Amino acid sequence: MSKLIIEGRRRLSGKVEVQGAKNSALPILAATLLTGDSSVIHNCPDLTDVKSTLNILRYMGCYVKQDVNTVFVDSREADKCDIPDELMHAMRSSIIFLGPLIARFGCAKLTYPGGCELGPRPIDLHLMALRLLGVEISEQHGVIECSAPHGLHGAKIALSFPSVGATENIMLAACVADGTTIITNAAREPEICDLADCLNSFGARISGAGEGTVIIDGVESLRGTMHTIIPDRIAAATYMAAAAATGGSVIVDRIIPSHLNSIIPIFEESGCTVTQKGNSILLDAPSRLDAVNFIRTMPFPGFPTDAQPPIMAMLSTAKGTGIFVENIFENRYKHVCGLERMGARIHLEGKVAVVEGVPELYGARVAATDLRGGAALVVAGLCAHGITEISDVNFIERGYENIELALTEIGASIKRL
Ligand code: UD1
Repeated sequence: MSKLIIEGRRRLSGKVEVQGAKNSALPILAATLLTGDSSVIHNCPDLTDVKSTLNILRYMGCYVKQDVNTVFVDSREADKCDIPDELMHAMRSSIIFLGPLIARFGCAKLTYPGGCELGPRPIDLHLMALRLLGVEISEQHGVIECSAPHGLHGAKIALSFPSVGATENIMLAACVADGTTIITNAAREPEICDLADCLNSFGARISGAGEGTVIIDGVESLRGTMHTIIPDRIAAATYMAAAAATGGSVIVDRIIPSHLNSIIPIFEESGCTVTQKGNSILLDAPSRLDAVNFIRTMPFPGFPTDAQPPIMAMLSTAKGTGIFVENIFENRYKHVCGLERMGARIHLEGKVAVVEGVPELYGARVAATDLRGGAALVVAGLCAHGITEISDVNFIERGYENIELALTEIGASIKRL
């Protein structure tokens, strides 16, 4: 298994181009199943989670071709409505196939996505919503079997929490249901809008995406077409954190700055100057950052939970003390152990982390424990004295396309062994 070796304390400067959004790519690739046609998806990041998604499509009988960042999917011959356990377990997000499978074949059989490194990730909201759309569901020994004997019909669905995955699964199933579906308290993340835009270009009739209420007028069928995935706002935040942690000056390019509206003020509060220009941001950092008093993770448009680990790493050497409150996932402080090993001073109490800035971090041997936690260790390694060796890089590869190349191009000393 590969490792990242980082020699820290190099000031980052130059321009980094941001990949397409992982969290858009996965539901959009699942959506291609609905078309029974061929679709071309551009700006698709080359990640292991994307490869796992393509493997599921292949298993179902789709013809799939990946050419760097363009993916071609022909789902005409797809004929399987089950997903084997090993494919389900390759990626937690495989649950996103539930809606498309039922919508296309009237049935689905898959296993629970299983344990997750961020703590328990139940799918009760997905199942509740599908039941309202007319799906009969039985769950036994970790296997979920679904059928829609009378087809899917529109429904009013009120989510008790604006779950991203549940909102997406409902949109995917309801766009070809009979009648209108209204989701209230829907997730508002940019990736929800991207999925809606993609489905609409396939012929769906979805309005209100990005607002609390999404209205889906079911249509007979969809057709394949072309879609370009939005930039990855979390990868952008990670590169900004890396630049800021090293006192750098970096242009983060090919982004949609408004998607970073809750993140940019954190950088400004820490003493960075952030200048927006078109689809890029210039971040100029002081030699030492100021602590940020209070960061609470929230559903969009709040501060994203996925940006919490890299930004915590960045602030671990800030002047002063700051508080993080993690409101989305129970187990999202696993990177703290690695940061402490590198000299950070962080006190954890349930969902609260108190980060007492230290003057310096020191390179150490650490292991990635999850995707964004792994990115946090990279940020820490970039600003630490000496060599940092990060193992279990496979977690990082799930969400960052060639992270070592992107960082090398802006002056980092980082290589993969
Ligand atoms: C998606 C993102 C992930 C991000 C998260 C929150 C993808 C592929 N992943 O994950 O990167 O961190 O949104 O922004 O897009 N919950 C339930 N029951 C459910 C569903 C969710 O209780 O049926 C809870 C979860 O346990 C969690 C919270 O809701 O505590 C948020 O989950 P959700 O918004 O569904 O996140 P994901 O779609 O899994």
